[in-house]
Amino acid sequence: MKSYNPYSKEVMKHFFNPKNVGRLKLPHGTGEAGNLLCGDIMRIYIKVKRDKKTGGRRIADIKFECMGCVVAIANSSMITSMAMGKTLEEAIKITKDDVLKKLGKVPPIKIHCSILAVDALREAIYDYYSRNKLPIPSELQKEHKRIQKAIKTIEERHKEYTELEKKILKQKSK
Ligand code: FES
Repeated sequence: MKSYNPYSKEVMKHFFNPKNVGRLKLPHGTGEAGNLLCGDIMRIYIKVKRDKKTGGRRIADIKFECMGCVVAIANSSMITSMAMGKTLEEAIKITKDDVLKKLGKVPPIKIHCSILAVDALREAIYDYYSRNKLPIPSELQKEHKRIQKAIKTIEERHKEYTELEKKILKQKSK
């Protein structure tokens, strides 16, 4: 029997063997993002190296932790591979469409999962800029507000559901 698989070979490759999984010790920037539709969360850690000649700042190392689905994990693996070695300005410009172009087929219902990694990377760069008191591009500031709001909403929902679960379990045990 032929089994149904809605994902491309590339998605499956990155899902089964994701690159750059884990945490960095003493990262220069950390970003967290959450998906409002499913409540999944992910984090990206970056180390940044400054080019002595040009003064440019490049991503010298990058890792991720993803509490998400097949697409979220494949996306995280792909975007961290794409961002490695890029300047911060170049990395900010990576979009979900750039990542999806490299990953191939993803069902429309799972497109929202590919935003998580893009958001987490931007948050890690935001964190780096802010720790180093560097000017933060206005677009990145706007994104930061949106991403933080989503995280807060997810945390509130998790709290609500936990309370609800407790209530239900209490009623069942009566
Ligand atoms: Fe949550 Fe895909 S279902 S990120």
